[in-house]
Amino acid sequence: MPTRISRDRSLPLDLFADEAVFDLELRQIWQQDWVFAGPLDAVAERGDYLPVTIGTQPVILVRDSDLVVRALANVCSHRGMPLVDGPGNAARFPCPYHAWTYANDGELLSVPYTMPDEVDKTSHGLEQFRCEVWHGLVFVSLNPDVEPLADRLRVLEPYVRPLAIDRLHHDLAGIGAEVWNANWKAVFANAVDSYSHFRVHPETIEPFSPTDASYYLAGSARGSVTGGESLERADHIVVALPPSFVAVVYPDAMLWQAFSPLSVDRTDVRIGLAGEQPADGRAVNLPGWDAAFVDEDRAVVERLQTNARVRSRPGALTSLERPLGDFHDYLRWRLTDAEPAAPYIAAAPGERPEDL
Ligand code: FES
Ligand SMILES: [Fe+2]
Repeated sequence: MPTRISRDRSLPLDLFADEAVFDLELRQIWQQDWVFAGPLDAVAERGDYLPVTIGTQPVILVRDSDLVVRALANVCSHRGMPLVDGPGNAARFPCPYHAWTYANDGELLSVPYTMPDEVDKTSHGLEQFRCEVWHGLVFVSLNPDVEPLADRLRVLEPYVRPLAIDRLHHDLAGIGAEVWNANWKAVFANAVDSYSHFRVHPETIEPFSPTDASYYLAGSARGSVTGGESLERADHIVVALPPSFVAVVYPDAMLWQAFSPLSVDRTDVRIGLAGEQPADGRAVNLPGWDAAFVDEDRAVVERLQTNARVRSRPGALTSLERPLGDFHDYLRWRLTDAEPAAPYIAAAPGERPEDL
């Protein structure tokens, strides 16, 4: 089925509704690859924690008492209870069920009403997952043998590093979370689609970032980066890190979207902003910022999903949709083991391609 994916054509619509493909994606993408967990700001202080879901795995992102950022299973090692259900700060996680209590580095500390050797504490710590930080963004992988995050994102690095996005402050209170009634691939593809701006966002995005002023910079199956003009400011870039993260980075701000699949036709969508000043409410100042564009995106992907069980012939992708081609290569790489092509570089960091 996934062998029908091509980088030149739109995705076959039935891949947005196929339960078997969705299960394959959970196993070979969401349970294997690096998935965005949250901004490092969410665990800035000793003991800060944030529950997140990586694929289907509930995880506690935590900065432990030694300041190490960890990804722990949000699953009690006794009988599987979720330990936390919202962000907070704690040195310990006592289980709500029988109060087995863990240190915030995952070690099991105490088991109530048992003899000293009745439960082997050393073998009942919380499961831990790979957790690495890229420019202030925390990624988690359930796969212990996953390639290092820096290797995974190497193509993007020269374009992202000069923007120093690690210095930005994320508006934690402003992070939006919605459930969209669409397959995660449709949501991701839409997030990297600048071709639709004039049609879907005529008042929210198009006046500030015109469709015909976006250009491809570099990419591969592992991710892509495009550039675009913004009214009265330096060009922005759009960074696409499949399967879970797309960010628009301005010289002084960043807008990100993160995705997590809930079912074949439902996707959890988080939207965040980061700016140069420590966020005080919605302090980030983006030109023409209008949160209505989120509703516009949601409306188109939910409408597309209504055709997910329809027979169709995949249509040609245009030159403006090259990042979608990279995403299709990503899907082929993860789902069929097709070896990804070498990265394509259209322009060096800070430059525009000549044919623009
Ligand atoms: S399930 Fe957590 S202590 Fe029993
Ligand atoms: Fe859009």
